[in-house]
Amino acid sequence: MHLITAYITFLLRSTNQHGVHSPFVYNLVTRCFYDKKKYPAYEILKQYRKSLLKDKRTILIKDFGAGSRVFKSDKREVSKMAKSAGISPKRARLLNRLVNYLEVDRALELGTSLGLGTAAMAAGNKVKITTIEGCPETAAVAGEKFRGFGLNNIQLKVARFELFLKESANSKAQIPNSSFTQTENGQPTTENPQPTLLRSSSHGQATNNSELLTHNFDLLYIDGNHQKEATLTYFEKLLPTIHNNSVMIFDDIHWSKGMEEAWEEIKAHPEVRVTIDTFQWGLVFFRREQEKEHFVIRV
Ligand SMILES: C[S@@+](CC[C@H](N)C(=O)[O-])C[C@H]1O[C@@H](n2cnc3c(N)ncnc32)[C@H](O)[C@@H]1O
Repeated sequence: MHLITAYITFLLRSTNQHGVHSPFVYNLVTRCFYDKKKYPAYEILKQYRKSLLKDKRTILIKDFGAGSRVFKSDKREVSKMAKSAGISPKRARLLNRLVNYLEVDRALELGTSLGLGTAAMAAGNKVKITTIEGCPETAAVAGEKFRGFGLNNIQLKVARFELFLKESANSKAQIPNSSFTQTENGQPTTENPQPTLLRSSSHGQATNNSELLTHNFDLLYIDGNHQKEATLTYFEKLLPTIHNNSVMIFDDIHWSKGMEEAWEEIKAHPEVRVTIDTFQWGLVFFRREQEKEHFVIRV
């Protein structure tokens, strides 16, 4: 019910490029959002999805229960997960275009799942991606597909977001300018298509997470734990990794009242200049040269 009301409100408030006076936003909408050309990368995305939809294996899901820190375990068929979860084909194409249009060099994704969004960013683009997934078996399937599709520009890490981000904040001052991460067996690795497991100390803190510390991300796709407090925490923790031209994309900003509150707080943050609400996604830009302005755009 909440979603229906939220969608009606969105439709009443939304616009297309008409009435958008910011040249930056106008160009983004007309040249990227509404770009109807068919790009070769779209075929890769189609085949990637198809291979998941054909995958009849059953995996054990470590579910990060809503509002709970206690994981629920479940067995699920990969094909069924691909049908119900993950980015839609239309959004995947838009994400692919965004990475290209914004000339994204480094991207971070919170919430890999089966890698549909990651593949959307990676296919045909020069970007290097760090993607984080908490469920080891889901990540293993994604890692296998990335290798199968030759998507070598993806570094997949198995970790809880909270652990990953907490470690980055704790060790920001201590970790030198190093770009390796540590694998499960302690071997350093750089571009590693196998999932990298962040190691935990007895205090439950990841022991190595230099990637996040040494990179300014151009695009950050936050698509995991869709709850107010978690979303605001990720936003705050990721702020040190952005630069003037970065974009953060938050998924499911209207999913619940809590997510809508989180979205309003993000919009009001002093670092935030331009936001675009596309109903499913909230895009956040930090361009200091722009007036603070919030857009609601149909895609
Ligand atoms: C909606 S799915 C991601 C979909 C994917 N980004 C896409 O575009 O297809 C969310 C994923 O985030 C993971 N996740 C949720 N909360 C998490 C957390 N706190 N730490 C690590 N992973 C988490 C879940 O296991 C799930 O696979």
